[in-house]
Amino acid sequence: MEKLKGWIKSIRDSKGLRFFAVTDGIKDHQLTVKEGTPIEGLPKVGASFIAEGEHSTTPKGQPEFLVSKLDIVGASDDDFPIQPKAHSDEFFRSVPELRGKAKKFQAIWKIRHQQTQAIHRILDHFGFIQYYTPIITHADCEGAGESFSVKSDWLDEKLTVSGQLHGEVGMSSLGKIYTFGPTFRAEKSTTRKHLSEFWMIEPEIAFCDLFEAMDVAEDLVKRVLRSVEAKSEYEFKQLGIDDKHTKIADIDWPRIKYDDICEKFGIKWGEDISSDMEQTIVKSYGAPVFITHYPKDLKPFYMKKDDKHALCFDLIFPEVGEIIGGSQREEDYEKLKEQMQSAKLDMDKMQWYLVTRKWGTVPHSGFGLGFDRLLMYITKAQKIHDVIPFPISY
Ligand code: 4AD
Ligand code: MG
Repeated sequence: MEKLKGWIKSIRDSKGLRFFAVTDGIKDHQLTVKEGTPIEGLPKVGASFIAEGEHSTTPKGQPEFLVSKLDIVGASDDDFPIQPKAHSDEFFRSVPELRGKAKKFQAIWKIRHQQTQAIHRILDHFGFIQYYTPIITHADCEGAGESFSVKSDWLDEKLTVSGQLHGEVGMSSLGKIYTFGPTFRAEKSTTRKHLSEFWMIEPEIAFCDLFEAMDVAEDLVKRVLRSVEAKSEYEFKQLGIDDKHTKIADIDWPRIKYDDICEKFGIKWGEDISSDMEQTIVKSYGAPVFITHYPKDLKPFYMKKDDKHALCFDLIFPEVGEIIGGSQREEDYEKLKEQMQSAKLDMDKMQWYLVTRKWGTVPHSGFGLGFDRLLMYITKAQKIHDVIPFPISY
């Protein structure tokens, strides 16, 4: 006697038999119930159950669970919204508390898990230490005006936009660290790839220049793609995705300087590159593209800069655009101080950051990988809102 526990997804009657398509959360199964089988409660789509019986195969060779006793644990009724029919993503977005019961979102949540595990495994394998940075902080890493405030009767701070600055503190004691945490951006953006709360992985590496940081980024993302694909065959089938995501992991990703991009694609020097233009660029190379050395005035205070450019890169992906932003950091005390002052940072509050360059400073680099955007690419989700169970956005 075996037991199967789960939820009913659909019910079909045929020639004295009842077939229940069910899920145990991890896999889908078919329950086959003969007439006269004892049933406790009313089986309905959405109800939870415990079945006793035996795993077997149908005459056509499909796996089935032959039920000898069925107990309905939690009842359902005809108002249950996730009925076995096609639903739009828009409808699903209106019921975040229920959409995880649909095959598509079960698959995405599981791939999300695999992507998390892959990142930890790979970074651990290469000697990175996971470092914990604060979520409540005064440090506005990426520039003014895009953070949420956190206030109580004794505290007046912000929600972090990036763990990087504290990550650099970790780097200066451990050499190679990464953060894996929620980050918050308050800008009122309504694009399909913006969340107000999203997850970022931020490796920070001592004795590392811009190019070595790109090597790490490219290797990490390629390994994540391969690992997720290897572990999620069942889920990709559930999503109806059959083409190999690893294809892009087998080619080199070009690294092109911003100045060359401007020349080739007719962009005015000094202007940001729009999302549409990013896709034109990626299509023309047939691969993800690193765009490097942006004009220094487009980039934040912590980056190492020459008189025209920042030593930085963005990794642009097909479909989802920028999935990584990274740079070499300014490691010189005086130069960083100057850049902090011209960015009008509160020098008293930010001393702890400047001090990282006072004793034992080191050339170092790092980057931030947008976890949800990478997952969007992997699952071919149309909106970033569809890869996180409870999206928060403007
Ligand atoms: O390019 P960003 O702003 O870089 C930083 O925050 C650096 N401090 C990272 C570092 O060097 N440690 O953000 C990094 C990545 C982006 O490339 C994008 O993939 C993702 O985070 N991202 C968002 N994802 C979803 N919604 C948003 N609003 C996002 N903003 C950035
Ligand atoms: Mg960026």
